[in-house]
Amino acid sequence: MKSTTWMLLPCIMLIAASASAAERPTYTKDVAPILFANCVSCHRSGEIAPMSLMNYDEVRPWAKSIKKAISEGTMPPWHADSSKVEYLNDLSLSSAERETILGWVDSGATRGDAGDMPEAPTFTGGWAMGEPDFIFPTTTGFTVEQGETEIEYQSVYFDSSSITEDLYITEWEIRPTHLKSVHHANMVRAPKALDRVGIGQAVLAGGDYIGSYLPGCRPMKYPEGTALRIPAGSVIQIQIHYVGLEDRDVVDHTELGVKFAQGRVDKIMRVLGTDDNDMEIAPYQDDYTLETSVNLLYDLTILSSGAHMHTRGDSYLMKAILPDGGEKLIADVPNYDFNWQSNYQLANPVQVPKGTELFVKAGWDNSAKNPNNPDPSQKVVYGPWTKDEMLVTWAHAVLTNEKLGLKLVDGRLVGKFDDAQEAPHPFLLQSLPASMRPREPKAETVGGGL
Ligand code: HEC
Repeated sequence: MKSTTWMLLPCIMLIAASASAAERPTYTKDVAPILFANCVSCHRSGEIAPMSLMNYDEVRPWAKSIKKAISEGTMPPWHADSSKVEYLNDLSLSSAERETILGWVDSGATRGDAGDMPEAPTFTGGWAMGEPDFIFPTTTGFTVEQGETEIEYQSVYFDSSSITEDLYITEWEIRPTHLKSVHHANMVRAPKALDRVGIGQAVLAGGDYIGSYLPGCRPMKYPEGTALRIPAGSVIQIQIHYVGLEDRDVVDHTELGVKFAQGRVDKIMRVLGTDDNDMEIAPYQDDYTLETSVNLLYDLTILSSGAHMHTRGDSYLMKAILPDGGEKLIADVPNYDFNWQSNYQLANPVQVPKGTELFVKAGWDNSAKNPNNPDPSQKVVYGPWTKDEMLVTWAHAVLTNEKLGLKLVDGRLVGKFDDAQEAPHPFLLQSLPASMRPREPKAETVGGGL
């Protein structure tokens, strides 16, 4: 009896050991697939992140930092609440994925069997959209000087010499040649070059805001049958915020690649905007909020939205308040971060009827708790510079009932363009944003007297 027990014991221990090994996540089996899907678009050589995470030897030294970044929610960079709205460009990890990575770090960050390793994604380099139909030519590059952090915004222009006829575009990608030096870039279309480009300014000049380049962002692709229209003679302007590298000067040539519409296009992409500049944030105030809205004058389908605030910006929410009082959430971004301003693309576009109020609530944190805050002791008011604040939000939308039936070959209209189909100016789709409306006198200034 005794000897049998002795014989059995090691077997039981072995079974117990192998059971816990099976539960313990390994790099090859459990972690690599998550990193390939969610991290290596930025964490690979030549990309914007500081280190590559393509294989075990690269990942292992970062295990503790990865645990910290994931538990604190700083990586992957995603600031919206994905439990409330589903986004096409969501970068966040599911809670199961998060648990797997944390469990892997806590249990020793082991390599695992080589046979479990999934195939690494391949990157063609160059354009993430594949070969563009057309690349807008850039002539001069911009030299970003070493260590320079206060570089004035630079603009690249593509003008009427390249846009001689109306163009219809279904996909675009902004591609800096020197990724690490480009903090972000905004692209607008206008009838002429603008001094300081902003959505409000572009719209006032009869143009519109097309979109932004942000570190790690994907090419913008419009839904089937929808195109961006660039009228002949327009200027496309990309305004770039550069930040110098620590160790050397670099030269950047930012390019714009596009794919042209082919076949039938029924809908034109439009942009709606709210903005409100009536703000005064006290020193150290951590809970300043502003609410603003515009009314929609057409039946619209909203495809994406975003907000632009500066370093004290802390949160923003956009929702549609329907004429019957019902509400539809468009974006809820409780952790807005100046360094990662996203365009949130809706997995389920939101249809709203004419008479809907597009409502925005935004928040600012001017306390020392906000890591982006350059100086909590300052009172902050509206202004164009990063030390000032502003609130601009946008939504990309199409007219729900638009059915243009345009026929296109290589982005050009075949046959005569019917003037009746001219895109209405964005302001015909909505009421004026708050900052452009005549101000009502404030209660405390009315009456005067005693
Ligand atoms: C959209 C691009 C992008 C994605 C996706 C991304 N990262 Fe990052 N990551 C960055 C950049 C840029 C930095 C450096 C700047 C910063 O810390 O904000 C960084 C920094 C980090 C750091 C901190 C490095 C340090 O110096 O301490 C860790 C750890 C990290 N990332 C892990 C991850 C992991 C794990 C994932 C996927 C689950 C991920 N990242 C996804 C861009 C990205």
